[in-house]
Amino acid sequence: MTRAADREFMARALRLARNGLATTDPNPTVGCVLVRDGEIVGEGFTAPVGGPHAERAALAAAGDRARGATAYVTLEPCCHQGRTGPCTSALLEAGVARVVCAMRDPNPLVNGVGLSTLAEAGVAVEQGLMASGARELNEGYLARMSRGRPWVRSKIAASIDGRTALASGESQWITGADARRDVHRWRARSSAVMSGIGTVLADDPSLTARPDDDYGEFVAPLRVIVDSALRTPPAARTLSLPGEVVIFTVADATDRRPPLEAAGARIERVGGEPRCDPEHLLARLAELEVNDVWVEAGPTLNGALLEHGLIDELVLYLAPRILGDDARGMFALPPLASLGDSLELAIDDVRRVGADLRVRARPVTVLAPRG
Ligand SMILES: NC(=O)c1ccc[n+]([C@@H]2O[C@H](COP(=O)([O-])OP(=O)(O)OC[C@H]3O[C@@H](n4cnc5c(N)ncnc54)[C@H](OP(=O)(O)O)[C@@H]3O)[C@@H](O)[C@H]2O)c1
Repeated sequence: MTRAADREFMARALRLARNGLATTDPNPTVGCVLVRDGEIVGEGFTAPVGGPHAERAALAAAGDRARGATAYVTLEPCCHQGRTGPCTSALLEAGVARVVCAMRDPNPLVNGVGLSTLAEAGVAVEQGLMASGARELNEGYLARMSRGRPWVRSKIAASIDGRTALASGESQWITGADARRDVHRWRARSSAVMSGIGTVLADDPSLTARPDDDYGEFVAPLRVIVDSALRTPPAARTLSLPGEVVIFTVADATDRRPPLEAAGARIERVGGEPRCDPEHLLARLAELEVNDVWVEAGPTLNGALLEHGLIDELVLYLAPRILGDDARGMFALPPLASLGDSLELAIDDVRRVGADLRVRARPVTVLAPRG
């Protein structure tokens, strides 16, 4: 097989994996293409939890034609008994001759053992082909497995002068309908949607994912409120909607707890004083198998997350309007002594969404600690 052919089949496996972006949570989404004599004999992608992994789906499609084939897989095949059997065993039983995988699975139960199991059984294995494409599909899973913390994307809708709400708190809607539709697609592919109590009190948001009908199936994200003193009103809209809501607090048993629990919230105490420690609550979300968190909060929580170096990606929607310096900004931060103390970003993507701009950017430095 030429390198160009290898790339072509891996690109196809990556495209297949995209089908599972919103349905495989908390598992990673994976694509697999089986090729024999230059011809695709089977392909598949990860099914929702409990269903077959990509390799098994492709093997089922290929049947006997998998013998002697090359498997192109976007993530290292699993080698442990989970909700389904190990994919390494399925590949060996089917007589696959070569496995090309895009990247290693950092899950401590796999982490290289999937590939070494195959190699020891005589399968030719390769790793690293088109790894960045594979990484991008599963940032959340990879973050949770390798650092015990979900991937955090903070969405901010702002005017082009960087303002997120009027001084009065009014912020609905700064951006247009297309941007809001895009936000619902992001919510649908996230494991959790998180907000701060300031936003809950100001906007009474649903925090649910409501993508267009053509979006297809998705696993409903967990809804998370960060609320140190349990000020969430039991009548908050998000509590009245189907699905799970977790409220993180540092308040011990108070009389505010029973009405919130009666309204359907799960209340979890995290470390921190006087406010929820953002690192603790993200570690707790990882324990709950949350891969990626979509934050829709105001400047207070966003500022705290940024200051702690906990935002992995910003998704900014910038509307072609100006709100002026009296309106609120994006991040409540302590004053910086010099420009050298500022946080620098790398811009990954800029596109128009309706009349607005969407900018995706990643922090590449950290903020200087508070003096
Ligand atoms: N344009 C947008 O994209 C957008 C999105 C969302 C909201 N908003 C706007 O933002 C405004 C609300 O902003 P906000 O800053 O008041 O609310 P926020 O950032 O959503 O929530 C802030 C609250 O979170 C709680 N919190 C708990 N732990 C924290 C920690 N470690 N660090 C910081 N905060 C922590 C604090 O209250 P406790 O100390 O009581 O816990 C804090 O007051 C509204 O006007 C809303 O419309 C705009």
